[in-house]
Amino acid sequence: MSEIPLTELLTQEKFSDDDLARLLRLTDPSDCEKLWREAYDRCTKVHGNNIYFRGLIEVSNVCTYDCRYCGIRKGNRAAFRYTLTKEEILEAVRYALEAGYGSVALQSGERDDPKFVDFIEDVLAAAHRLSVQMGIAEGCGMTLSFGEQTLETYRRWARAAGNPNALRYLLRIETSNRALFDHLHESTGKSKTWPARLQALSDLRTAGYQVGTGVMIGIPGQTIEDLVRDIRMFESLDVDMLGMGPYLVSHGGSMVEEGMMDKGPLLTLTRNMLAATRLALPTVNMAAATALETLHSGGRSLAILSGCNVMMPNVTPQRTRASYQLYDNKQGTEATPDSNVALEGELLRTTGRTIGFNRFGSALHFRKRTDRPED
Ligand code: 5AD
Repeated sequence: MSEIPLTELLTQEKFSDDDLARLLRLTDPSDCEKLWREAYDRCTKVHGNNIYFRGLIEVSNVCTYDCRYCGIRKGNRAAFRYTLTKEEILEAVRYALEAGYGSVALQSGERDDPKFVDFIEDVLAAAHRLSVQMGIAEGCGMTLSFGEQTLETYRRWARAAGNPNALRYLLRIETSNRALFDHLHESTGKSKTWPARLQALSDLRTAGYQVGTGVMIGIPGQTIEDLVRDIRMFESLDVDMLGMGPYLVSHGGSMVEEGMMDKGPLLTLTRNMLAATRLALPTVNMAAATALETLHSGGRSLAILSGCNVMMPNVTPQRTRASYQLYDNKQGTEATPDSNVALEGELLRTTGRTIGFNRFGSALHFRKRTDRPED
């Protein structure tokens, strides 16, 4: 049986596994452009022309886990470890809100000791108060990305963050292939398990967060079928948000000898995955990953042009910026006023989007399932 033309396939509302695999496998530049364009256009139809910014603050690179792909894994003795002070974090929050971003995203290596949990709770409450003082009546939007925690911790942080309408958590599943997941997380110390990750995602939902997950694209050993199953998993988890980026080798990790995909094909596959995911899950918020910027200068704009509608400019203080090296040569030179303006200008010029300044931009998927208005 011969295949239907691509242009026809791209008008469908529903996509079979075979359809998705076909989209992911596209390599012909004009075919790829058609796919990316369709994802961009559907994003416009469903979400409007705004992209939303979250000021990203890398709170600490101290980590108790040994994920093999990651440059800040516990076993990397060469990493200089830091934890920002509360004052530094609040300065960065102030910076992001003054820039009109409306939301901040706080991220760190993974710890679950009481001292850390208390510290984050205290910081979230202070950040909330600061944002109210700065004139955001409900408090700013907050996206947390602190890994697997107990339901009780998730609840405490949710309360501290103060604004239940713009409360979000990102916890990537990394891959839906369980054997590959286990391979990525083999460790002699504390290691990640698949059931724990799923439990955490379910607890986040129970605790009232807009829940985001995602995978790395182009992991050594990952197949196109795995990526199709990743998309199916996003659907079955009923997630509100997605963050996906290319897998990049990290010399601080323990997978160097497994290599990585060539840059050109990896960029194309990443854009295909973003676009196919946008077609399958039209109502989620989807973030343009920093890893894509590292793979290719201007990569985040290309992500927007492939169906993403969220950007996370880095507002971490320069003092520690270079130490949050998840992978080699990580990019993210924003957060000087000049480069922020340059980034915003470049985005506007290259993507045809507008920026949703001083808006929360919560995921439509979340607003529909919880009956909330546009924010
Ligand atoms: N390449 C790409 N992404 C990576 N991450 C960690 N290490 C790498 C890497 N080498 C991503 C993981 C994690 C997020 C915080 O960073 O997906 O969930």
